[in-house]
Amino acid sequence: MVDFECTFDARLVQSHDPKDHGITAQTKQQTADVTATAIAEVEKKFLQKEYGFVETLKEQKYLTETREVFEQLDWVSTMVVVGIGGSDLGARAIQDGLEVENPPMQVLFHGDTTDPVSISRLFRRIDLKSTVFVIISKSGQTVETMSQYVFLKAYVHKHIEDWARHFVFITDPEGGVLRPEGTEHGVLMLPIPPGVGGRFSVLTPVGLLPALAMGVDIDALVTGALKAAESETFRKMTQEFAATQYQLYSQGTKVVAMMPYAVQLEEFCRWFRQLWAESLGKDNKGILPVQARGPADQHSQAQFYNQGEPLQSLFFLRILQPAADFTIEEVDIEAMSYLKGHSFQEMLLIEQEATALALKKAGRPSVSITIQRMTAQGLGELFMFFELAVVYVAEMLGVNAFDQPGVEEGKQMMYALLGKDGFADKKTEIDQLRQKYQS
Ligand code: PA5
Repeated sequence: MVDFECTFDARLVQSHDPKDHGITAQTKQQTADVTATAIAEVEKKFLQKEYGFVETLKEQKYLTETREVFEQLDWVSTMVVVGIGGSDLGARAIQDGLEVENPPMQVLFHGDTTDPVSISRLFRRIDLKSTVFVIISKSGQTVETMSQYVFLKAYVHKHIEDWARHFVFITDPEGGVLRPEGTEHGVLMLPIPPGVGGRFSVLTPVGLLPALAMGVDIDALVTGALKAAESETFRKMTQEFAATQYQLYSQGTKVVAMMPYAVQLEEFCRWFRQLWAESLGKDNKGILPVQARGPADQHSQAQFYNQGEPLQSLFFLRILQPAADFTIEEVDIEAMSYLKGHSFQEMLLIEQEATALALKKAGRPSVSITIQRMTAQGLGELFMFFELAVVYVAEMLGVNAFDQPGVEEGKQMMYALLGKDGFADKKTEIDQLRQKYQS
């Protein structure tokens, strides 16, 4: 049996008395058919190799091509990642989780806002001569990303003759605007595998090129995720986890707060929020993901989680063996002497346990997901844990995990408002909506 870095504990999600909002025996019984059928259906598709986000990991070529592009960037000191949603949240999570000392490049993120202040901040932080802008867009259409690209292209062009060298495009292998633009100007390009949607694309060149610049072992990241996906034991763990989420949902718990007790997992939470919200929130169903932060939010949101309207369950994330730890050896204040001999990691784990038990006492359910060590392999597993789990939960809810019609609607309205060709009908619809709701 493979030992995984990532495990989960469901003891505190079960109901133990009538006032408890955890999962009851009755719910388990009532949902058994739905969960079993959904698990069987996903397993079938999995064995038929229908999930692009898993199958892609088996294709060595994405790792090789990403490395080849990276090797051509040996003149670069700063990589600016320009993307939004699935095109940047994964790489942010990798940077936060696996930050190494003296990485090959400084990696900055820019493109998830059109706030002009972020542009002036960026210009203060980079030296244009040694900067490469990695433009990531699967559709090659997204306003936030593409507006930054056209702006940056003109800016770089004005200052540097060989401007195209300062860009890399990561985009669909065929469609969109970026592909022909890159071909015309000789820009280095990498593909986003066709069968992998934005929020499932972290372990494709979308996350892997920035990861190389951060000094991360991309083989371990990909292998960790693939080994996990291929293990029946691991998939069982994600199935059990998914079933708990569906059972809670069936009892009316429609919000989940992810609360990492690890600063290295805060960006992971933002990645998770997109995965959960975009994959599950449709057809008037879904589990709303909320981000919390341990222990900081013990002193903020925990009051609500403990005694407010029982809307949510919690996912706690913990790292068991930290990369560094410090112990309080000396205490010369009598009232604080109980701290003597405790390490900060010990305190962190105690804080998490205390929060989970206090919630349990109040009848509020939680699960804990633990990573042994924050390695590239462990982070790969963690990505896979939630990617698989969301597919199981979606099947249980009866929604399509892989589309995002609600996001697309907003994008189309923006195109119409900005005067893009082909969106005249959408503009008429907007005018009607404005008349109806804003007059
Ligand atoms: O998950 C998704 O598909 C979306 O969140 C996209 O990642 C996001 O909208 C960015 O799209 P694109 O990569 O096409 O620019």
